Amino acid sequence: MKIRESGMPPQDVWDLFFDPDGILDRLGLDGSVTDAVEFGCGYGTFTLPAANRVSGRVLGLDIEPEMLAIATRNAVNAGVSNIDFSLRDFVGEGTGLPDESVDFAMMFNILHLLDPVSLLREALRVLKSGGRLGIIHWNHDEETPRGPPLSIRPTAERCFDWALAAGFSAASEILDLPPYHYGMVLQR
Ligand SMILES: C[S@@+](CC[C@H](N)C(=O)[O-])C[C@H]1O[C@@H](n2cnc3c(N)ncnc32)[C@H](O)[C@@H]1O
Repeated sequence: MKIRESGMPPQDVWDLFFDPDGILDRLGLDGSVTDAVEFGCGYGTFTLPAANRVSGRVLGLDIEPEMLAIATRNAVNAGVSNIDFSLRDFVGEGTGLPDESVDFAMMFNILHLLDPVSLLREALRVLKSGGRLGIIHWNHDEETPRGPPLSIRPTAERCFDWALAAGFSAASEILDLPPYHYGMVLQR
């Protein structure tokens, strides 16, 4: 099932909202990571810079063929060859990854889904012991230029509590990721 309110504006608009490398720096996604997975890769905004950092491969999952086509084209144009894009409904079917198979999981701008704890448990399952989960989401603030309605948009504290409920341990404090986002790192 597609996550509610998870449609995307045109790529040139989406790109205005982030400093992807700055965010990945703050989340500690660096060369110590071998393999990573991104839940809902969209245009590859974060998938491509993540792939440039890891020593292995990044799996980018998305339910929308159009997103995967654009992300694949972006990767080809950028000469990034260590990404596997896969059409998948991770809410309905999970990631399809084996247990304890990746070092880092990315959940960026998706945790307003109906059952976040179940999806967080799927991230926990696929992470190796000591592996990390990076979360970012839109600030819970009506001044943001985009993002799900505030009625379903989680606060940072709520995401943190959900991750702990799913079985993660805190690996960072809540991070301010200006101009519009917060983030956090959890550990398996
Ligand atoms: C708001 S966008 C965020 C994209 C990316 N994480 C980013 O921050 O740039 C959410 C993405 O998740 C995808 N998505 C929504 N529901 C999904 C599902 N059930 N399984 C896989 N992908 C899904 C959407 O197609 C969309 O590309």
